[in-house]
Amino acid sequence: RRVAVLMGGASSEREVSLRSGQAVGAALGEAGYDVTLVECGRDAAALVAALDAARPDVVFNALHGRFGEDGCVQGLLELMRLPYTHSGVMASAAAMDKAQARRLFEAAGLPVARGRVVRRGEPAPLPRPYVVKPLNEGSSVGVHIVAAGTNADPLGAWPFVGDQVLVEEFIPGRELTVAVMGDRALGVLEITSDHGFYDYDAKYAPGGSRHIMPAPLPAADYVEAGRLAVAAHQALGCRGVSRADLRYDDTRPGEKPRLVLLEVNTQPGMTATSLVPDIAAHAGLSFPDLVRWMVENAQC
Ligand code: DAL
Ligand code: MG
Repeated sequence: RRVAVLMGGASSEREVSLRSGQAVGAALGEAGYDVTLVECGRDAAALVAALDAARPDVVFNALHGRFGEDGCVQGLLELMRLPYTHSGVMASAAAMDKAQARRLFEAAGLPVARGRVVRRGEPAPLPRPYVVKPLNEGSSVGVHIVAAGTNADPLGAWPFVGDQVLVEEFIPGRELTVAVMGDRALGVLEITSDHGFYDYDAKYAPGGSRHIMPAPLPAADYVEAGRLAVAAHQALGCRGVSRADLRYDDTRPGEKPRLVLLEVNTQPGMTATSLVPDIAAHAGLSFPDLVRWMVENAQC
């Protein structure tokens, strides 16, 4: 079978996507597929021409961020009637827009951080510490934590991407991530980092973070993290593989730890050392097995 791997793209996560695409391409080759790597920019006509030339049976979407993860490329593949991996147009768009995703999570009764979308010039809606996030970026690009005790008005100085940002309560505690495959959780991983938080450098610099798999949690909380990730995947209408990021706040003296859903990534990083492949490996699924499953479950 012929598979075209889309990689690169025009978002701030282009470099990450190139790494995902190379790794996926190599693993698909190992799994016996006839692979064409398609490096994308923002030129839709060039992408259509490259796909027409490659004549794939399936498209493996290894793009991250705007245009590749937000429903745009998915819409183009629908028009071309090419089955593609991961979520469809609606779920991709909803997951990429952090405000929209929050609405769907809340409607499904899932625990999200207190927060609100703020327009340029508006005061912060929450006391510090809080987290400021662009509405549609990935890999923590543009995310800032405003510590308690900071004096300046950080929102006033904020370089808004667009006219709005999301301001959310800072959840102390631990960072968890859950891989979802189809409608089941593959496992829960804890991430530790020496950086202030799990930011872009911690994610991609060698040694920037550590993966602890399985996450050392009480059994009931481990199961609950998996349940929340599957419920979040379903609330957005995702398909295939996704990855939910959660916080686990076990810092409140005398109170039970709480799990808070941060977001669902519909196009999670797919380098050989990324989170989802790591979780899959622990569940007994090699990287070539994982990408084979994704290709065989591609839809249009
Ligand atoms: N946005 C990056 C690729 C991730 O979620 O893994
Ligand atoms: Mg993300």
